[in-house]
This record gives sequence, structure tokens and C-alpha cells, in this order.
Amino acid sequence: MELLDTQRLALVTGAVEGGIGFRVAERLAAEGARQALVDIDGDAIAATARKLAEATGTEVRGYAADIADPASVLAMAEAVRGEMGEPEILINCAAIVSDKLFLESDYGDWSRMTEICLYGPMNLIKTFAPAMVERQYGRIICLASDSARLGQARLSYYAAAKAGVIALCKSVAQELGPSSVTVNVVSPGATNTSLRQAREASLLDQMGPENYAKREKKVLRMYPLRRIGGPDDIASMIAYVASDRASWVTGQVISVNGGFAMP
Ligand SMILES: NC(=O)c1ccc[n+]([C@@H]2O[C@H](COP(=O)([O-])OP(=O)(O)OC[C@H]3O[C@@H](n4cnc5c(N)ncnc54)[C@H](O)[C@@H]3O)[C@@H](O)[C@H]2O)c1
Repeated sequence: MELLDTQRLALVTGAVEGGIGFRVAERLAAEGARQALVDIDGDAIAATARKLAEATGTEVRGYAADIADPASVLAMAEAVRGEMGEPEILINCAAIVSDKLFLESDYGDWSRMTEICLYGPMNLIKTFAPAMVERQYGRIICLASDSARLGQARLSYYAAAKAGVIALCKSVAQELGPSSVTVNVVSPGATNTSLRQAREASLLDQMGPENYAKREKKVLRMYPLRRIGGPDDIASMIAYVASDRASWVTGQVISVNGGFAMP
């Protein structure tokens, strides 16, 4: 089902193959949406964009930027504007995760996490929202995590940064609503991507195979649908919220989580 007005330029961060951002980009490209894909890994994002453009015949370009660095975001924005125009859809997927007990973490861990996971979306919104306001149209979507809503051991400062994203989006939604710019949060439960696989590998290392297998079973019992999510599960919701069909949805935190949490 096609959802998007393909004249609108979409910008997706964290879109290298293997994650949710990539699956979003793949889906939007299949609908013919022009896209700027952004990632800190410049070579990988260039290759991803080329692959999607070739597969779909859609204009998809890759841009290297560190979302935590305002100067890097501004340079990327200039390049995007020069080559593709002004994004009307902004999808903030880029993030890192860190698996540590809070008491074993330090200021360096917290600040890196906050710079990427909270200041990153702030940098992107600050850069691209003014033109959306001017055009009286925009879709801003940020990825949070159900750990931000429920709390999660070993993810404290990631969860804290993502809780900040939720508060940011609800507040900015109030400010930009009168300009017909929507701001929403999609909050995934555990989803099989490169980010999750890295965390699981570290847990397996720390716990050993037997305890890890027990944990896996316990985790699955917490999901009424009895499976971990796939990037497609999350991308479907993002594609809907990015579309014109969602023009009366703003300031919402939409969990896509197999029933893990039912607030
Ligand atoms: N996978 C899960 O289980 C899960 C659960 C809840 C929430 N989420 C959220 O969903 C989003 C996508 O996660 P994913 O699992 O696809 O992750 P992923 O690791 O597969 O992709 C994240 C991408 O962000 C990029 N990135 C990291 N730091 C960056 C920076 N400073 N600047 C630019 N790009 C940077 C990485 O290179 C990578 O391509 C994230 O916001 C994540 O927090 C994921």
C-alpha cells in the first residue's frame, strides 16, 4: 500500500543496512520517495544509498554526518539542500546503545549517550524544522525505546536519553502543531537489528551460554506475541506516521512492541 506523497523529500538518519533506518529507507524508496540517508559511517551510507537507488530507480543519496556534532549536521544539511532540496519528512533513527550497570558507568558514558541519542535528534530538528514551519508542512519522527517508558536494568543512561526524546517530541509537537508540522515518537520493543545483535553478543559473553539461553526464554515470555520484533514491524509504523494519512497524529508515543508493555 503506497502511503507517501513522493514529491516530498525524506531524510532518514542511521540508515545503514542492518537496522530499522535502513528498512524504513527501503520501504520509502519502494514507494518512490526521494531520500537523503544520513549516517556516521560515510562509506556504508553511500553504498546503501547507491543500492537502493539502483534497485528502485528512485533518487536516494547518502550523506556522512555525526548527528552529535552541530557543525557536521549543518555541513550535511547544506549538501542535502544543494543537491536534493529541503526535507519535509525527518526520521531520526540513528543511536547507540550501551550495556552497563549504572554504578559501573561514568560521566563519559552518559555524555556520549546523551550527545548522540538526545542532542542528535535536537540538532536535526533545529536544522530542518524551520523550513517545515515556513512551508506549513512537516513530519518529524524520533525513535525512542520502551526502556524509556518502563526503565530497564543495564540500559539506564540510554533509557534516560530516550525519555528525553519523548519529552522533547511532545513539547516540540505543541510548538509546531499550529504550522501543521507533526512530531511523533515510535517506541520499539526488542527488535532484531545490528544494534540489538551487538548487545546480545555482549550479554552472551558476560552470562555464558546456559544463563543466556535461560534469559532468552524469559525474555520471550514477556512478549505476548512470543517473538522479538523485526525491522519491518517498526518500519511499517514509521511509514504510516510519515504519511499524509497521519495528518491528525501528533505528540504521540506509539509503541510497536509485540505487547511487551500495555500502558
Ligand atoms: N533494535 C532494538 O531492539 C531497538 C529497541 C528500541 C529502540 N530502538 C531504537 O531504534 C533506532 C534504530 O535502532 P537500530 O536497532 O536500527 O540500530 P542500528 O545500530 O542498527 O542503527 C543505528 C545507526 O545509527 C548510526 N549512528 C550511530 N551513531 C551515529 C552518529 N553519531 N551520527 C550518525 N549516525 C550514527 C549507526 O552507524 C547505525 O547505522 C534507534 O534509535 C534505537 O535506539 C531499537
